[in-house]
Amino acid sequence: MSLADKSQSNAAVELFPARNSQSEPQTRSPLKNKKIWAFGGGKGGVGKSMITSSLGISLARMGHSVTIIDLDLGGANLHTSLGVAAPTNSLSDFIEGRVPTFEKLISPTEVRNLGFISGANDSLNIANLEGSSRESLMQAIKSVPTDYILLDLGAGTTKNTLDFFLLADQSIICVLPEATSIENAYRFVKAAFYRRLKILEDNLGMKKIVDEAMDHKNRLGIRTPFDLINYVAKVDPIAGKTFKLELSKMHFNLIVNQIRTNSDIEIGHSVKSVCQKYFGVNTEYVGYLDYDNAVWQAMRKRRPVILEYPYCHLVTQFLKITRALTENHAQTVVPL
Ligand SMILES: Nc1ncnc2c1ncn2[C@@H]1O[C@H](COP(=O)(O)OP(=O)(O)OP(=O)(O)O)[C@@H](O)[C@H]1O
Ligand SMILES: [Mg+2]
Repeated sequence: MSLADKSQSNAAVELFPARNSQSEPQTRSPLKNKKIWAFGGGKGGVGKSMITSSLGISLARMGHSVTIIDLDLGGANLHTSLGVAAPTNSLSDFIEGRVPTFEKLISPTEVRNLGFISGANDSLNIANLEGSSRESLMQAIKSVPTDYILLDLGAGTTKNTLDFFLLADQSIICVLPEATSIENAYRFVKAAFYRRLKILEDNLGMKKIVDEAMDHKNRLGIRTPFDLINYVAKVDPIAGKTFKLELSKMHFNLIVNQIRTNSDIEIGHSVKSVCQKYFGVNTEYVGYLDYDNAVWQAMRKRRPVILEYPYCHLVTQFLKITRALTENHAQTVVPL
């Protein structure tokens, strides 16, 4: 797909007026319940940071207050997607107790209503965060005083990455229409499912059964999440019922990035149905994004793509996804 087609996206420009525009919407009153959105997907380089920053800008331009947090502690670079210099203070300063409050970490961006917290600026890795550091980081994230808190997660399926993904009100899986990315997305969903199960198991005292189920060669013949839940329901109907209820609350969203053809768009529907059938996890396909040279061109200029190229088709696509996620329902995803 090509760069800006000026005649195509006038509507988007009206909705996302240029920087410093007089017509920029005023900040709306804060939501009663703030919302955390987390972006994951298992594989590196699928566009998580580009998507997180663009959706953050979209939300802010709608008048919501937004904080984006770079949780890719090993390789924090979200500031580049947002077009800001790496701030002096980062999450590691909070974790190491060098800043008194979490709020002190929030740096402004060029977009009104949009703040940013930088990831670690040293070798601290999210996988190494344990115990009280992890807990206090989670509490601090929940206490950020903006309508929306967006978490850009690193690649992989470490316990901590999964916990931040599951902490969110909207957990968003970013995937490319490529076999390796799709495989990684399934691995990520499976890991998140079993992580949730492990957390529940602690509360329900079902540790032994879940541990057996995690062992793929288990003698119980449990092979899929459905097998596991049915087995638990058989041995302990009350725990089984709670298990089913809690797992039915799991809800993931899916974005397919870098589409080039209509069949790429269809991939999102297939991934969604596999997640639902095999894992029993409610999954919404909230939208897709074109492969667009504007993305790397903006990245080279260290500018967010939807600000640098306000006429590109991605602007409208981000707007649709933002609406699908804020209104908490799926758009009907159809080919172009
Ligand atoms: N829709 C798109 N069109 C063209 N290029 C894209 C698109 N989305 C992402 N890219 C390119 O893909 C690369 C990876 O994007 P990004 O850094 O956002 O991925 P990531 O998932 O955050 O990676 P990491 O796991 O390393 O943090 C960037 O070079 C970006 O320019
Ligand atoms: Mg990234």
